Amino acid sequence: MENSSRKELLAAYYAATPEDQSKYRYQYSLVEIKKREEDISSLLARLPGDVLNFLEIAGELADKQEVKAYLIGGMVRDLFLGLENRDLDIVLAPGPEAPELNPDLERRKEAHPPGLGNRGQVSNPELEKRKEKGDILENYLRELADVFQAEYSYNSKFRTGNLLLPAGLNVDLAEARREFYQYSGALPEVEAAGIIEDLFRRDYTINSLALVLNRVEWGCLLDYFQGLEDLQEASLRVLHSFSFLDDPTRIVRGIRLAAKTAFSFARETSVLLQEALTGGDFSHLSLERILKEFEFLFASPVNSNLFSLLQQYPLFNLLNLEVGIREGLEEELEKLESYLAEFREKNYNREEWVLRLALFIGDAGEELKKWQVRTDYKEIFLAYESYQSLLPELAQPLAADELVEKLKPLQDEELLILLARSRNKEVEENILRYLRKLKNIGLEITGKDLLANGLEPGPVIGEILARVYRQRLKGKLSSRTEQLAYARSLVREVKGKKE
Ligand code: CTP
Repeated sequence: MENSSRKELLAAYYAATPEDQSKYRYQYSLVEIKKREEDISSLLARLPGDVLNFLEIAGELADKQEVKAYLIGGMVRDLFLGLENRDLDIVLAPGPEAPELNPDLERRKEAHPPGLGNRGQVSNPELEKRKEKGDILENYLRELADVFQAEYSYNSKFRTGNLLLPAGLNVDLAEARREFYQYSGALPEVEAAGIIEDLFRRDYTINSLALVLNRVEWGCLLDYFQGLEDLQEASLRVLHSFSFLDDPTRIVRGIRLAAKTAFSFARETSVLLQEALTGGDFSHLSLERILKEFEFLFASPVNSNLFSLLQQYPLFNLLNLEVGIREGLEEELEKLESYLAEFREKNYNREEWVLRLALFIGDAGEELKKWQVRTDYKEIFLAYESYQSLLPELAQPLAADELVEKLKPLQDEELLILLARSRNKEVEENILRYLRKLKNIGLEITGKDLLANGLEPGPVIGEILARVYRQRLKGKLSSRTEQLAYARSLVREVKGKKE
């Protein structure tokens, strides 16, 4: 589509009513809407015992409440990929699937008679009444929490809930919904819908598979949008052409998924991704929301897949930062990882994602300075810019106390950034000497000890402690007794001068 007509289309799309917006999505769908069912109960049997047990009970309780319960999203995807996942997403939908499909989808269903199978809506006045009151999910959650003796939370506005089970099993629950967006990057408005609509609003086809948990259909996998084919072809495909603009966080999610699985973006999806990144308006996307996705993206070391993806797609445009991939960055990342591994061993547990991200975005100084984020994060992002001028000084041979004086004001993370970015052996040796040794040297005596030795309160106390500390930095006065003895000699010296 030409650029100008694409722009007009996008303007019309974001100005459309929820119903028309939904129609646009089906019209510009990139998938064929065609139902495929597979019995994957044997695959389910491979799940860890606690997960399987939970899913079976979740299905039984759904039967009891006369709703359909589906396992969806990452867990289903990872089941096929043989990857471990402890995050379960469960969607509840009223009885048989998709009772309130929109008219456009209904039309498409007619065009694919064998596909969508319309079993129609079962009228259950009691269920409808409960649905109107919106307490289906809450009842369901309460019962699940009772069985598992777990805490649950419920959000009545969004009709979502969460359960935290033993051994780190996290369960997110929601009622099936359709979404619409008032502008790119807005939080979606949601309303109740059937399972197809719920699946059609999702990010990638491989995340749009649904597994029925109810007893009679236990293990029946519903694939409406060729998610299984895409899994086989190792392909990431969005469902419709507005997907990345509706929710730009999907871009980062997709890059993360591609890096983790080595899947490739399907051709049209890749074009849409580039289009969104180069032409998208992210002014309404909150920094907090998008940074959360970057936190997940950089939670583990940057592998070569991720590095190439970041070379290919200007992902940092999402943060409104213009930063390229500079020469040598891959080596800097490797260096950072080796230092992180060393400090991790010493229980140095900091938020590593901030450091990895900082190596990518650290040169975007002016823009970064405007960010409203935690001060310590901002200092890390800006570390190279702030302390670049220190590097030539650190390339000189330095006495221990000089080095400490220069590096003491910096957070350890800032030092790690300088270490990773420095290309000078002396600089690195000096920073490492500080981090590995000097920084941990303290004093075992305090001002109180000096007072106890007859010194009057005043600035002289600090001066004496500083002199003891300097000796410590030189490797002397290793015990408290020695420090005290030296301090006493200094006290005598001071007193002698006074008399
Ligand atoms: N989802 C989406 N768009 C988003 C976030 C989530 O469509 N911006 C849908 C996807 O179907 C996703 C599911 O919600 O699979 C659950 O989201 P989440 O638990 O955040 O991700 P997973 O894909 O389950 O797992 P992971 O984060 O490990 O990839």
